[in-house]
Amino acid sequence: MDAPNLLVAYQSVEGHTQQVAERIAERLRAGGALVTLTTAAEAPSPTRFDGVVVGDPIHAGQHTRELTAYLKTHAATLERIPTALFQVCLTSADRTPEKLAATGAYVTSLTEATGCTPDLVARFAGALRYPQYGRLKRAFMRRIAAGSGRSTDTSTDHVLTDWDEVDGFADDVLLLVRSPHRA
Ligand SMILES: Cc1cc2nc3c(=O)[nH]c(=O)nc-3n(C[C@H](O)[C@H](O)[C@H](O)COP(=O)(O)O)c2cc1C
Repeated sequence: MDAPNLLVAYQSVEGHTQQVAERIAERLRAGGALVTLTTAAEAPSPTRFDGVVVGDPIHAGQHTRELTAYLKTHAATLERIPTALFQVCLTSADRTPEKLAATGAYVTSLTEATGCTPDLVARFAGALRYPQYGRLKRAFMRRIAAGSGRSTDTSTDHVLTDWDEVDGFADDVLLLVRSPHRA
């Protein structure tokens, strides 16, 4: 295949999933792909792409409305082309069986709600961005963080994402779209 033409469509509430999406786009480009990077709300139809990466954070136990709507609208097309999903949330900062079950359930809810089943799924730890939160949200997130042993220093961001894991996911996407044996 010539340079694969890939779409990276993400949604982000506080900007961290956008940073992860930018990192993935950069890695895909370095691996020889042509990449269109955009929000799910503004993403074009996936029809003309050789592969699609979608990314979304979890807020209050849910994927975003925008990404859910995009997958629902384009589920039939996405079933025909390589599709990868990355999810970003705090629960993935711990890989205990309970936490893995919780983040897996978020993925299952998304696939059931949309009819779209990605070929590849990654679940990345997100970030605590205290300085960006309003007063109430900051207090709420500080309580959640304290309960799960995370930093309660609200003067700065705390990024829990493993960037090597993100790069590895992008490399797997390239293998997926270049695989001649894809079902
Ligand atoms: C109000 C709020 C609710 C959140 N709810 C959850 C949640 O239910 N489960 C979880 O694992 N992470 C939760 N998070 C953590 C986010 O998923 C994490 O901060 C992520 O990096 C946000 O990505 P974004 O900056 O792209 O919006 C929540 C964060 C905020 C601010």
